[in-house]
Amino acid sequence: MDKLIINGGTPLHGQIQASGAKNAVLPIMAATLLAEGIFHIHNVPDLRDVKTMAYLLRIIGAKVDYEHNTLTIDTSNCSFFEAPYELVKTMRASIYVLGPLLARFGEAKVSLPGGCAIGARPVDLHLKGLSKLGACVVLEKGYIQASANQMAGCTINLDVPSVGATGNLLMAAVLTTGETTISNAAREPDVVALAEFLVKMGARIEGIGTAVLKIKGAAKLNAVDFEIVPDRIEAGTFMIAAAITGGEVEITKCNPRHVDSLTAKLREAGVLVEEGKESITCKSTRQRPLPVNITTSEYPGFPTDLQAQWMALMCLAGGSSIITDTIFFDRFTHTAELRRLGAKIELNENTAFVGGVESLNGAPVMSTDLRASACLVLAGLAARGCTEVHRIYHLDRGYERIEAKLKKLGADISRQDGGL
Ligand code: UD1
Repeated sequence: MDKLIINGGTPLHGQIQASGAKNAVLPIMAATLLAEGIFHIHNVPDLRDVKTMAYLLRIIGAKVDYEHNTLTIDTSNCSFFEAPYELVKTMRASIYVLGPLLARFGEAKVSLPGGCAIGARPVDLHLKGLSKLGACVVLEKGYIQASANQMAGCTINLDVPSVGATGNLLMAAVLTTGETTISNAAREPDVVALAEFLVKMGARIEGIGTAVLKIKGAAKLNAVDFEIVPDRIEAGTFMIAAAITGGEVEITKCNPRHVDSLTAKLREAGVLVEEGKESITCKSTRQRPLPVNITTSEYPGFPTDLQAQWMALMCLAGGSSIITDTIFFDRFTHTAELRRLGAKIELNENTAFVGGVESLNGAPVMSTDLRASACLVLAGLAARGCTEVHRIYHLDRGYERIEAKLKKLGADISRQDGGL
């Protein structure tokens, strides 16, 4: 298993380009199943999750090619409507094929995702919504079996604005008869990107980017070309990398509006953030950041996907801060690893109390999930001495060429085969 070797302490300087958003491309790849034809998707990041979704589409019968960050997907010969356990267990986002398969072919069998490294993540809202649209949904032998002759428009009020449920139900609703309203819908840029992709395919959706989506069912959709939006979580991770190493980094080809909540918190911490039209520059102005509390919430609030990275920064703040995750209550496996580097963190349920220390010291640490891995890389970049980050296959799921990008900014980082 590969590991990253980081010799910390170098302030990062320079410019890097944000990649396309993982959380936008995955549902969009699934949405290609809604129409017959050839799609070209541009600005697709080279990630393990993208490869996993491509593999799943191939199992279903699509032809998928990937070259120079462009995916070509031909959905003309789909005939196997199943997402097997072996794939779903490695990537929860496989559940995104449920809505499109049901909408176009009237049947789908998708393994239940089950638990994962960030705790129990249910899919009840996906299933309730599909039942409301008229699908027959049965759980059998660990699989979701769904069928529908013709789904019909209805009103769905989500208990929580789930990103995944909003996406799945949106994809299921675009080919129904009548009108569907999804209220308390997620407003994340990734959901907006999916909705815009569906509109380009011929779907009629009102309220995009708001909590109420109105969908008028269409009889047929068409294959299209589309460009994936920049990854705000990757951009945010590099913004924090600049701050934690005391450097100055410009991130190009990103959307500053998508990281407003992080920008506000970085400014509170004393980091200089300058916004261009499609770029952001982060410059550290103090020896140590000021302590700043965060509470994660749905977009446009502070993203749970940046909570771990923020904690790395706060470990070195000149005072104590409080970090609360309201989206995933048990997303704190990184705290034990940060402590191995010398961080002072106390946990109480979904709240972490972080006492800032003057410095972290390199040590071997282990990744437990994607964003926890990013947090450990950031901490390693700032720590004195050598940090080894093990099990970085998590990182490869969601960060395109992370060590190449960090090296370009001056980091002393390399990948090694870690043996077992
Ligand atoms: C997506 C993102 C993930 C991000 C998360 C929250 C993708 C591929 N993944 O995950 O990176 O951390 O949004 O921004 O886009 N919930 C239910 N029932 C459901 C569905 C969700 O109770 O049926 C709850 C979850 O337990 C969680 C909350 O809703 O507490 C938000 O989860 P959700 O937005 O669905 O996350 P994902 O779509 O899985």
